[in-house]
Amino acid sequence: MSWFRPSSLALGLAFSSLATAANIEVTVGQGGKLEFNPPDLKAQIGDTVTYKFFAKNHAVAQSTFADPCQLQENGIFSGFTPTDSPDIAAPTDFTITINDTKPLWFYCPQTNGNHCQKGMVHSINAPATGNTFEAYKAKALQAAAPSTPPVGTLPVGGLRKLHIDVGFNGQLMFNPNNVTELVRTVVEFSYNPANHSIVQSSFDKPCQPIAREGGGFVAPFVPTQQTPSGVTFEVTLTNADPIWFYCAQTAKSHCQSGMVGSINAATEGDKTFQAFKDLAAKAAQHHRADVAAVVAILAETE
Ligand SMILES: *[C@@H]1O[C@H](CO)[C@@H](O)[C@H](O)[C@H]1NC(C)=O
Ligand SMILES: *[C@@H]1O[C@H](CO)[C@@H](O)[C@H](O)[C@H]1NC(C)=O
Ligand SMILES: *[C@@H]1O[C@H](CO)[C@@H](O)[C@H](O)[C@H]1NC(C)=O
Repeated sequence: MSWFRPSSLALGLAFSSLATAANIEVTVGQGGKLEFNPPDLKAQIGDTVTYKFFAKNHAVAQSTFADPCQLQENGIFSGFTPTDSPDIAAPTDFTITINDTKPLWFYCPQTNGNHCQKGMVHSINAPATGNTFEAYKAKALQAAAPSTPPVGTLPVGGLRKLHIDVGFNGQLMFNPNNVTELVRTVVEFSYNPANHSIVQSSFDKPCQPIAREGGGFVAPFVPTQQTPSGVTFEVTLTNADPIWFYCAQTAKSHCQSGMVGSINAATEGDKTFQAFKDLAAKAAQHHRADVAAVVAILAETE
């Protein structure tokens, strides 16, 4: 959209429209089961496959047929995705693009419980004879532990995306609003009613944009009555530093009302998400000046 351009050095920013391409969805660990569903699938060149993660902590990693449970050289890896629910997918998913029709072999590298060695494996375009999905799974059941790569390894070879709802469920909140995420993840904010924005602040000055201080994103107000509106705003995490953000809407003082969020906030000490929310609640009433600043920043980028 021409009325917005990236304003941050530290973060890559872009608008995107909703994907319209054909997409195959695979659940990972749904219902608490150590399985991919569907375990084996056929995909065409250009198709995308999106992995949805369930409790407790799974990932998708690519191996050779011969060596299940070990990340192959330059293999695809989603990053681990801890989440609480066995029934509701994590807000973070991972999407790969199919470039050719060669078989692809995948597994969950969780070592706590040796998921791969318990048969938590997956294939795309496996042949019907010879190196079949069942043959790969049989090898996995015999594979040496531990699997690789370890927790903390960054995603590679696909798109890891964290979805955050802006104005979730008609409330003045971001959902989720307090997350830990891996570097290289794309954070996708989805606008909901009625008229919100997403603006990065510092920890110390919630409800004020830091865009003018050499960094920080400012996403415009998007008035909408549609849930979801289909309008999204993306931020790519290029480092593990905490990110603090808020909605700059002054009608009903959204920021002071708790419409704030954090990514990679400390879980203890002075600068937790709760501490930020508390500071925002007490933020001074100069928010009229702050919304003017946001509107001015957006105007400059028109
Ligand atoms: C398809 O190509 C892209 C770009 O090189 C790569 O990132 C991706 O991992 C490839 N997909 C598969 C399934 O190998
Ligand atoms: C949305 O909110 C902004 C900031 O308060 C305001 O300038 C704009 O007029 C609002 N748009 C609508 C359609 O209400
Ligand atoms: C934020 O997340 C951390 C880590 O999961 C958790 O310890 C903390 O209680 C959360 N804070 C709030 C206010 O939800």
